Formats: sequence, C-alpha cells, structure tokens
Amino acid sequence: MVLDGLRRLEYRGYDSAGVAVLGGADGLAVERKAGRLANLEARLDEVGRAGFAGTAGMGHTRWATHGAPVDRNSHPHRDGTGRVAVVHNGIIENFAALRAELEAAGVEFASDTDSETAAHLVALAYASGETAGDLAASVRGVCRRLAGAFTLVVSHADEPDLIVAARRSSPLVVGIGDGETFVASDVAAFIEHTREAVELGQDQLVTITREGYEVVDFDGGTARVKPFTVDWDLSAAEKGGHEYFMLKEIEEQPAALENTLRGHFTDGRIVLDEQRIAEQDLREVDKVFVVACGSAYHSGLVAKYAIEHWTRLPVEVELASEFRYRDPVLDRDTLVVAVSQSGETADTLEAVRHARGQRARVLAVCNTNGAQIPRESDAVLYTHAGPEIGVASTKAFLAQIAANFLVGLALAQARGTKYPDEVAREFHELCAMPDAVRKVLGTNDQVRALGREVADAKAVLFLGRHVGYPVALEGALKLKELAYMHAEGFAAGELKHGPIALIEPGLPVVVVMPSPKGRAVLHSKLVSNISEIQARGARTIVIAEEGDETVLPFADTLITVPAVPTLLQPLVSTVPLQVLAAEIARARGYDVDKPRNLAKSVTVE
Ligand code: AGP
Repeated sequence: MVLDGLRRLEYRGYDSAGVAVLGGADGLAVERKAGRLANLEARLDEVGRAGFAGTAGMGHTRWATHGAPVDRNSHPHRDGTGRVAVVHNGIIENFAALRAELEAAGVEFASDTDSETAAHLVALAYASGETAGDLAASVRGVCRRLAGAFTLVVSHADEPDLIVAARRSSPLVVGIGDGETFVASDVAAFIEHTREAVELGQDQLVTITREGYEVVDFDGGTARVKPFTVDWDLSAAEKGGHEYFMLKEIEEQPAALENTLRGHFTDGRIVLDEQRIAEQDLREVDKVFVVACGSAYHSGLVAKYAIEHWTRLPVEVELASEFRYRDPVLDRDTLVVAVSQSGETADTLEAVRHARGQRARVLAVCNTNGAQIPRESDAVLYTHAGPEIGVASTKAFLAQIAANFLVGLALAQARGTKYPDEVAREFHELCAMPDAVRKVLGTNDQVRALGREVADAKAVLFLGRHVGYPVALEGALKLKELAYMHAEGFAAGELKHGPIALIEPGLPVVVVMPSPKGRAVLHSKLVSNISEIQARGARTIVIAEEGDETVLPFADTLITVPAVPTLLQPLVSTVPLQVLAAEIARARGYDVDKPRNLAKSVTVE
C-alpha cells in the first residue's frame, strides 16, 4: 500500500525512495535506496519483505535539496537508536544551528541532510522532558523550533498504532478510510482507498490511527480543518493507454479547458472561485503584476496582451524568483496574479508573501485545491486540469491561459472597460476553444513524424510575434526540458539584432504565425522574417492558420491550426509544439514524464 502510494507520487521528485513499517523484530523496519522506486523494491526483495509486514507504515520519494541523492541521505531518517523514523518534504532553514547543538550534545549524524535533524530532535523530546512518551507533543515541540518549510511524518517503534504528521508551507492531506487512515503530500497517493480527505492548514499537526485522526495546532490547540471529497477518479492518475502521462495530458487539454471555464460565467457575469476582494477594490486596481515560473510565467506573458487590451491597465509579467528582489513598486491598488499549477512553488509563494507584505492584493490561479499559494491569497481562480503527472506542463498551461483570460474579463467587468455583452462575447469565444484544440490534436501524427525527422538536430529556434512570442518561449522550454536540446524562443523582430547569426543550413526554425485576420502588418513582417531565414538555409517549420496561403512558399513544413480570435491563438498554436518536443524526446530515448534534474513541484527556492 505504501509503495503503491509512492508510485503515484513519484512525479513529485524521484532521486531516492524509502519506507518504514511499524512492527517486526525491532519494532520499526526501515529501508531506503537512491534512484527510482524500482531500486527500493529490489532492495526490499533482497532483504526480504517479511520483515516489513505491518499495518502502519510510511514512505517517501525525494528530490534532493540538502545532501546528494545517495542512500545515506534518503528518507526515512532515524535517530541513533533507530526507534524514530522521519520523512520530510521542504527545507529546515535553521538546521545547521540545530545540528551544531545536537552534535555538541553528542549526537552523531549519519547523513548530510537537514531532515535528519528532525529525527534526532523528536527522539530526544520523546525520551525525556515534558513531552516524554507523547509522540504528538514531542513532534509539536520540535516543529515549534524549526524554521523554513516542512511536512514531517514521524513513526516511533514504541507507538505501533499511530503516526504523527505536521506541515508548514508544504502540502499535507489526510485520507479518511474505513478502518484505515492516510496522510500524503497529494491525494493521488490514497484515492484508490478513499476519496474523503482533509487538507491540513499551516502549522498544524495530525495524529492518525486506524480509527481516525486528530488535528491540533503546534501549541496543541484544536485546529479547524476543511474536509473535502476528491473528485479525481483513479483513471485520472493513470496513463489512459498512452506510453506517458504527458501524452495523455496533451489529449486531455480540451477537457481541461472546458472544466476550467465551467461555472465561471453565471447570470451574465464572470465569477471567480473565492473572491475575498470586494468588487469596489477590483475597480480601484490601477496596476497588475503576473508572477510565476516556467510555463506558468509564459501563460502570464500571453495574458498580458489580453488583460491590457480588455482593461487598459498596465500589466507587468515577472519571474517570481526575480520579483521580490527587484523591490517592485506595489501598493493597495496593485493586483498581483500568482499563477501556479502546484500552488506550492516556493519562488511564487514567496513572491505572494512579499506582495501581501506590501499591501497589494493577490489573486491565485492554481490547479491544486487547498495548496499553499491559494490559501495565502485574497482571491482564487482554480484551473481544473486534473492531476498533471508529467513534469512538463501541458494541460495545466493551457488551463492557466484560459484562467488568466477569465481574470482579465473579471477585471474588465469590474472596471466597466467592457460592457456585459462584450464580456459575454469574449467568454463564449473562449468556450469555443476546446473544440479548436480538439481539431489541432488531429495534426499530432504529422507533428510526430516531423519530430522524428529533426530529432538529431543540435538546436531548434522558435520565432513568434505578439501573442505568438510567448508561445515561441514555451515551445523552446518544452524542447529544453524534455529532449535536453538547446532551444531558444525569440521575438521574430529581434532576429536582425543578433540571433539571425545563429541561422545555418538545415537548422530547424519553428515560426508561430499570427492570424492574417489580425494586424496584417504583423503577419507580413513575419513572412519576411521567414524568407530571410530560409534564404540562409534554415529548415522552416511554420505553424499557421488553416487557409493562410501566403506562407506556403516559405514553409518547408506547414502545420495548420484552426482559425481562432487573435488573442486566443496560443491555445491552439502551443499544442503542436508540445507534441513536437515529446516526440523528439521519445525519439532520443528519454523518459518523457520524468526529465532529468526536474521535479513536478519545485517547493524549494
Ligand atoms: C513547465 O513545463 C515546467 N514543468 C515548469 O516550468 C513549471 O511550469 C514551473 O516550475 C512552475 O510550476 P507551478 O506552475 O507549479 O508553479
């Protein structure tokens, strides 16, 4: 059961794995192994699984932060007696001082990790002092001493019928079964056993037994928690017949858009999920920041064109990791939109905290119910892309674009820069996009064939203009993170300022054409860009609107997308770039779902 749970979570990070089971000869059996989960399973077969029979246990897959991904740094970590086992997600920022204190008291460390500190502290607290013999109280006392972000799950050989878990700024959910109880970072770990769950809040601790659970805050006071029923079925976390989760998730994009748009337009008005910002306050917004990382950042770049066009508000799109260090100008009338699939990205979470510290209002666009970023925001708009297991973001990215558009319409509605009938029209154009995406998925076989043709290229460039520019950036990111290939996205107008020197015979260049219906000047400029690079021998791969004949003489390969409104075009032109990157990665023999060095949720800065 523990190993199955880890399998469903492996996408969150997988450079080592381990388990601890209460019971057996020593009261607590522990095994851990660097590398993929399969390495741990092989190890368990070696040592004999009989020693791991039991009814209470825990497991962990790790994405290294402190300490190399080797056996001794793998979780669970134990104290010197081996009677306490701890698994940890996050970073204990004051671990060095705590470690020095422990070593001064004679404690010997077996690893280089911050997490091991917690195991020793819990063991000492449980062995003597005011919390002696009380595991929950011991863990609470330890949590009060830790700084940073952590989810801890703790077992003690002397407490074979209970497990204690605590969270600060790192995900933890409780699964409530019939005669069994679970804790996990993500509901995917236990949804085949129960759909009834409870999300733990900041600085809360839960004790679970087979009978149920009890939640308190770090001071031992009763804590209020929010039960919810998980609406993902198990198949949502399976591959649905595809070789990789990512390929399934590319196909799920129409549904992700439909589910994200559903329910946000009632009685002729755009409605958000949680709006702890008064309509009047929205009206007074005089500046918008979008802060995010990676693909979420690219979704913000796309949104900028729409939000500025619809609301006439200045929109700055910022990399979350840069945002708070450049001392941005924020005040009560600034709206910060934090876009995050996981809702746990540390860079984005810290940007949210900085923004709130400056009295700005924060609206989260998030794909994970109850995650930390939405919990710390003034308003929330959830995307409903379902669990995105592939590390490379696809359906969540498209859902983020759609949700960002909804935020733009909500702002335009509040400010009156769009009449209700205009808002309704834009919303209904958005609702037509799932079918447009279904149509562009029909080009997948052509794109896959192209991917195999260019799989050996040493680099690929991506060009775009206007809303096609963020699409070029996203296409390049997909190729970098999946095929480990040098790829770069450019604003096509920048070619003559340097990048054209990169063009050489046979170099694949993907050009994302704007609609000829849009600003014709943009379209004609991009056509001249294509002729310039083709004249220098580039292999031109053109993504263009069906019926756009002007590009034919310049496209070595033409991939057509349905005609859609100018601002919505990224929703269709991104899809072939996702498929292209996945196919090149697959042709190169790489694991499309788990690219090297990457984890799905980057919960450390
Ligand atoms: C995109 O393919 C990557 N997986 C990565 O850039 C991701 O978009 C980024 O880490 C942000 O993650 P978040 O949306 O969970 O905050």
